[in-house]
Amino acid sequence: MKQSGILSINSSGRYQGSLTRLVSEKLVDELQKKSVGLAVTERDLAEGIPFVNEQWIGANFTDSEQRDETQKEALALSDNLVSELQNAEHIIIGSPIYNFSVPAVLKAWVDMVARARVTFQYTENGPEGLLKDKKAYLVMASGGVPIGSDMDIASIYLKRVLGFMGIIDVTVIDATKIDVSADRVLPA
Ligand SMILES: Cc1cc2nc3c(=O)[nH]c(=O)nc-3n(C[C@H](O)[C@H](O)[C@H](O)COP(=O)(O)O)c2cc1C
Repeated sequence: MKQSGILSINSSGRYQGSLTRLVSEKLVDELQKKSVGLAVTERDLAEGIPFVNEQWIGANFTDSEQRDETQKEALALSDNLVSELQNAEHIIIGSPIYNFSVPAVLKAWVDMVARARVTFQYTENGPEGLLKDKKAYLVMASGGVPIGSDMDIASIYLKRVLGFMGIIDVTVIDATKIDVSADRVLPA
């Protein structure tokens, strides 16, 4: 499958003064400067995302060939979100720490994309992630929890769930430490 773009996911509930949004945007620019022509897909979770429910779970556990129209409809957004991931080479996730964890909208996104037989599968040797050859950047911000410390269970969680889906190349960026007037987000 051809994968060449950037997927930029934001989850901060605010727009004014959002560090994760500001730094994610700078990172998109930086990656585009490095590889001219990279297409960008934006997914703003603050605009809303549904939770998994009975219909979704029933449809997801029905074999894809057996799904009726209602079940296909129940999975339509989830399918779209998975395609965005499959098509991206670079995945930027902007995540503030909210009450020790990730924003609820970001957890809802994880529930929409962690799909058995689509983004991961169970084999004789245990679980296997099906999203290959991708690079993820976690643009994190907090009001006090040190990013990357043991207290930062948000980054730990995101790394775990991305790894479960096969995305093991993950860089954590502390947005609170980035000088946004400078050009560089990524370390030299
Ligand atoms: C609802 C809410 C919960 C928060 N919970 C925490 C928290 O548990 N720990 C922490 O260090 N900061 C917490 N913060 C502070 C944010 O992580 C911090 O303001 C961050 O910069 C927000 O990201 P943003 O600038 O992209 O909006 C919280 C902020 C909000 C709005």
